[in-house]
Amino acid sequence: MTTPPCAELHLHLEGTLEPDLVFALAERNKIELDYRDPDELRAAKEFTDLQSFLDLYYSCMQVLRTEEDFADLTRAYLRRAREAGVWHAEIMVDPQAHMVRGVPLPTVIEGVGGALAESEREFGISTGLIAAFLRDRPAAEALEVLDDLLVMDAPLLGIGLDSAEVGYPPSLFTHVYDRARSAGLHLIAHAGEEGPAEYVREALDLLGVERIDHGIRSMDDPDLVQRLVREQVPLTGCPLSNVRLRAVPSLAEHPLPAMLAAGLLVTINSDDPAYFGGYVDDNYAAIAEQFGLGRDQLAALAENSVRASFASEARKTELLGEVETWRVG
Ligand code: ADE
Ligand code: ZN
Repeated sequence: MTTPPCAELHLHLEGTLEPDLVFALAERNKIELDYRDPDELRAAKEFTDLQSFLDLYYSCMQVLRTEEDFADLTRAYLRRAREAGVWHAEIMVDPQAHMVRGVPLPTVIEGVGGALAESEREFGISTGLIAAFLRDRPAAEALEVLDDLLVMDAPLLGIGLDSAEVGYPPSLFTHVYDRARSAGLHLIAHAGEEGPAEYVREALDLLGVERIDHGIRSMDDPDLVQRLVREQVPLTGCPLSNVRLRAVPSLAEHPLPAMLAAGLLVTINSDDPAYFGGYVDDNYAAIAEQFGLGRDQLAALAENSVRASFASEARKTELLGEVETWRVG
């Protein structure tokens, strides 16, 4: 079965950096890599937890140097996302991960933003850009970067919070989120991927987020689940990521069926598709096979993705129509 037209809401642009592009950019920028060829790099993608992935993720992104590199990466994702059935994408970038290695913020934003500005015309995908702050770096640094983004008038939809979770609770970033809210930005954060359900509560209560990235550990806390259901807080799920980072022991043991049965507003996304064995279509295909989901259930997940997006009401109506056409088709 094909996968439904959908919105992708949990996607790290740097996590779409495929091994072939790593090598092409390394050659263009005259950078020595630790791997002989793309196959050797592919073989290194065995992870034991979030940190073991982050080590490789931050290392590979060293090949991104120029505005053109960021634009090429963005277009490569959009091309593949179109094939995957993505009609709307809200894309996270990690500005600090580039700034700490000497890449100026405007290089990142203009490269990515330039490619996104052409996305609707070139790929039929409406987009939004989300600056994600690294929670394992100081909150004061995040605040400075946010101020720089606001002064630059960057084409930003919102802010997020990612990187190593345990030991870096949302409460550290209250000021950053207060400032982003005042600037009229949308607010999201990773919480409850490896960290406890309490981090999900903090993200809601202290940061005021509108969506939670991952949130699977919420299932450890029945009161929190009730609240998430009552308030219909979207959780952007990434099943293949959770398996590859061992946040769950296997896809068969993923809490997705329990989350849906509880009435949670779950969406399906790819997180870092170049690292976790698949794009959003591969995630839909994997859960369809594992849990025996049919057209109606996949369409319901795609509808959730549209409803949970920050797209305009007109675009949401259009996309819900596309999902319905797919469902009955
Ligand atoms: N950065 C990129 N992918 C991530 C993930 N799955 N969790 C936290 N930070 C990330
Ligand atoms: Zn993520």
